[in-house]
Amino acid sequence: MSENIFISSSTKIGKYEEILPQINALITGERNLISNLANVTAALKQVFDFFWIGFYIAEGDELVLGPFQGTIACTRIKKGKGVCGTVFEKGESIIVPNVDEFPGHIACSSLSKSEIVIPILKDGNVIAVLDVDSEKLNDFDVSDEKYLNELCKWLSDIF
Ligand code: SME
Repeated sequence: MSENIFISSSTKIGKYEEILPQINALITGERNLISNLANVTAALKQVFDFFWIGFYIAEGDELVLGPFQGTIACTRIKKGKGVCGTVFEKGESIIVPNVDEFPGHIACSSLSKSEIVIPILKDGNVIAVLDVDSEKLNDFDVSDEKYLNELCKWLSDIF
């Protein structure tokens, strides 16, 4: 396992291109799920300084808070509720440019303004979601979706 993250790019896409292989190296060889998910959130927080980034893990018809970086957050989210619960129900990622305009958005922090949630799928079922929040409006786009989706595809194998 490498102990440091090295990023030379100043663009968002360049940073994703550099961080993903390093995250892969970081979790390769370690089979503890909590340790790996914790390091994934730490690495992404370190590089992008996201306001909040974390995993919610499926347990029956609820999502339960997993490893994260940021302020304290709601521990359980029912399927179909909020952005995370909608992604849990539909199995597709959602970009929310303005959380105030998303019906049923769950405000864990009033500072959060935009959000992206990506599902982690195994055998067609959502087993977890990755939630990233920003203090800025409209802070996520298709490039975040592309790279975070790629990450979540291979994270599926460590569950
Ligand atoms: N805003 C999310 C809840 C999780 S927190 O943002 C960490 C939602 O509406 O599902």
